[in-house]
Amino acid sequence: MNKIIEIKNLTFKYPNTESLILDNLSFSVKENSWTTLIGHNGSGKSTIARLLIGLLAAEMDKKDPYFIKIDGMELNEKNIWKIRDKIGIVFQNPDNQFVGSTVEDDVAFGLENKGISRGKMLALVNEALNQVGMAEFNESEPAQLSGGQKQRVAIAGILAVKPKIIILDEATSMLDPEGKKSILNLIKKIKQQYNLTVISITHDLEEVEKSDEVLVLDSGKIVLQDNPDAIFNHAELLQKIGLGLPFGYQLADKLRKKGFLISKNANTQEKLVKEICQLNLKK
Ligand SMILES: Nc1ncnc2c1ncn2[C@@H]1O[C@H](COP(=O)(O)OP(=O)(O)OP(=O)(O)O)[C@@H](O)[C@H]1O
Ligand SMILES: [Mg+2]
Repeated sequence: MNKIIEIKNLTFKYPNTESLILDNLSFSVKENSWTTLIGHNGSGKSTIARLLIGLLAAEMDKKDPYFIKIDGMELNEKNIWKIRDKIGIVFQNPDNQFVGSTVEDDVAFGLENKGISRGKMLALVNEALNQVGMAEFNESEPAQLSGGQKQRVAIAGILAVKPKIIILDEATSMLDPEGKKSILNLIKKIKQQYNLTVISITHDLEEVEKSDEVLVLDSGKIVLQDNPDAIFNHAELLQKIGLGLPFGYQLADKLRKKGFLISKNANTQEKLVKEICQLNLKK
């Protein structure tokens, strides 16, 4: 499969501090895949997102040059706007990402200055709001929406410009469990419909489930890279680097120790409940 993102030898530190935030990082992301980037607070996840869209730039070391390639295009000053068209980001705090006075205006924002006719723009905005289930709120003020509704509008704003990649930087961390689930299900749906590549950034291991691949970040390095089930084979390491194991995983572990036949795959609450129902709790 095509690599839509390729990062090689990326080292980064902020100009005003001494510590290395990213340490010779290399990884790639397959087109149309869902990758979770997970790490504890301060491990460098948002820094990676900012570097990917060129909001930050790393210094070039002549001996060990780095590169970031998006959709086959090297990220540099010449390509930065073309690359930004390919990537949409949803941030953690929905209140910090609104620019329009109505939902409709807000979703249209990314389409302005693109030379699109008003009719086409309205059609794109409508389509995007329909996709996220927010069409009836088109004339509402963004400030009056709930957290989950705000994130849906932010996602619509991204869909309207039809990017290839969507990055969710802790986009569900301020939502309650139901709100989280519903946004992640929405992402799953639009990923299929729009052939999107999804990168979800989180420090919550409960959220890795829907992804194809998980990259675990610690001290600016990728310490694990595997599918969502396989990373739980490294539970000790995950805990050591400050990631809390999901409640379902911990309960499954306790039940196994008591002799219940619970499989290794029951690493989330949902999967555990399914197994408990199917196994009739045979000892
Ligand atoms: N503008 C900045 N100047 C200096 N240091 C910064 C700046 N932004 C972030 N850092 C530092 O870089 C490190 C990585 O920050 P980053 O925001 O990438 O972490 P993160 O993994 O996204 O964390 P969180 O889970 O809390 O969002 C942290 O130690 C942070 O203090
Ligand atoms: Mg962050």
